[in-house]
Amino acid sequence: MKVLVVGKGGREHALITALHESPGQPELLSFPGSDAIGLLARRVSANGVDDLVEVMKREAVDLCVAGEESYLVTGAGLANLCQAAGIPCWGPHLESAQLEASKEFAKEFMLRHGIPTGAYSAVESIEDARAAIGDSYPTVLKFDGLAAGKGVAVCPDEASAEAFLQEVLVQRRFGEGRLLVEEFLEGPEISIFAAVVDGDYQILAPARDYKRLGDGDEGPNTGGMGAVSSRGMLDSSLLLRIDDEIVRPTVEGLIRDGLPYRGFLYFGIMLTANGPRILEYNCRFGDPEAQAVMPLIQGDFLRYVHEGAKGRLDRSAISFQEGWSVCLVSASAGYPESSRNGDVIHGLGAVQNVRVFHAGTRLNADQDYETAGGRVLAVVGQGASLQEAVRLTYEESAKITFDGMQRRSDVGTRGFTP
Ligand code: AMP
Ligand code: GLY
Repeated sequence: MKVLVVGKGGREHALITALHESPGQPELLSFPGSDAIGLLARRVSANGVDDLVEVMKREAVDLCVAGEESYLVTGAGLANLCQAAGIPCWGPHLESAQLEASKEFAKEFMLRHGIPTGAYSAVESIEDARAAIGDSYPTVLKFDGLAAGKGVAVCPDEASAEAFLQEVLVQRRFGEGRLLVEEFLEGPEISIFAAVVDGDYQILAPARDYKRLGDGDEGPNTGGMGAVSSRGMLDSSLLLRIDDEIVRPTVEGLIRDGLPYRGFLYFGIMLTANGPRILEYNCRFGDPEAQAVMPLIQGDFLRYVHEGAKGRLDRSAISFQEGWSVCLVSASAGYPESSRNGDVIHGLGAVQNVRVFHAGTRLNADQDYETAGGRVLAVVGQGASLQEAVRLTYEESAKITFDGMQRRSDVGTRGFTP
C-alpha cells in the first residue's frame, strides 16, 4: 500500500507518524515534506496540483491524504483530480472546501441549515461597512478571501475598525473581495474535529489551541503556540449539544447541498452564554491541534482514512486513549512578523517519553537540525491528568533549545480550572 501525504508542517509530521505506525506498514510518500518527514516518507517533487496527481499516477499511489488545504482549492481541486484519476483521497472536493476558502459561502451555508453562528452582513464599500457596524463595538471584520491568516480583526472601537477598513477596502491590502461585518461573540473558544465520510461522521476529539504569541494570551496572533486535547475536555451534555446543533446539521447540510466530503472537518466554536456558536469551518485538521490529538488515537489509522476515502467510515479501526495530551510549540526569533532561519537546535536527542513533531526545521551541512520557519517544532506529551501531561511536556521541552527561541509557559494551565 502506497500513501502520499500533502503538506510539510507539524500536522503532517503527526499524520505521517500515525500512518507509519499503522499495522499495514504502508510505503509513505510526502509532498513537499521536510527533512524530518523525509525520514518516514520519501519526498517527491511536483509542479502544481495537476503535476502532483500525475506523479501519484506514475507512482501508483493507493491513497492521497490532504494534510493542508491549499491544494484542495487550487486549479480543479486535489480531491476532484484524484477522483478523476481513480485515487481515493482523504480531503474534500473543491466545491466543498469553499466552506474554508470563502467566509461568505460558509456563513450562507450555516444560515441555510440553521447552524447557530454570529449575525453578519456582507459589504463591498467602506460606507456600507460603516453603516453595518453602526455604533456597536466591539465588532468583528472578516475579509472574504485569502489573507494569509491576517483577514480577521476583532475591533474594540471605531479607530481600530476604521484602520482595518482603510487597509482592506481602500488600500486593498488583500486585493478585491467583500468584507463581512460580524456580531462579536464572547466565551471560551474550542475546536472540534470530525472525520466525515459522505453522510456519516465521527467526532474525534475536542481541542483548545493557544493562538497568541505570549503568556496570558497577550501579543500578536500566531498559527498556534500550543494545544491541549482530551476526550474528556467537554462534559458530555455540552458535546451532545454541539453535535446536535452544529456537527450533525453540517454533515446533513453537505448532503442536502450535494457537496461531496470525505476528510477531516474542523469546527471553530465559541461557547457563548447563549450556547455554542460556530465561528468557522476548516477543511482539514488543525495545526497544532493535530499534533495533540493524533497521539491519543490508537489502532489502525491507515485503515481508517483509507476506508474513509473509499466511502466507508470504519469506526472499529481506531479507538481513543483516555487522558490528556499537551502540545507545546517552540517558535523562532522574530515570529510571527518574520522568522529567523539557521539557529541550530540542541537537545533533540535528549527528550524521552514524548513526541517531537517538526514544523520549520531543516538539516544543515553538519546534519544537525536548525530553524527554517516560524513555528519550529512541537513537543507533545500525554498524561492521565492534564497536570501530568503539562509537567511531562514542559520538562522535556526544556531540554530543547535554540537561539531566539519563543515558547509559552502557560499552555495547558491558562483556560483550565484545576
Ligand atoms: P476565524 O478565522 O473566522 O476563525 O477568526 C479568527 C479568530 O478571530 C477566531 O479564532 C476568534 O478568536 C476571533 N473571532 C472570529 N469571529 C469572532 C466573533 N464573531 N466574535 C469574537 N471573536 C471572533
Ligand atoms: N490552529 C488553527 C488552525 O489550524 O487553523
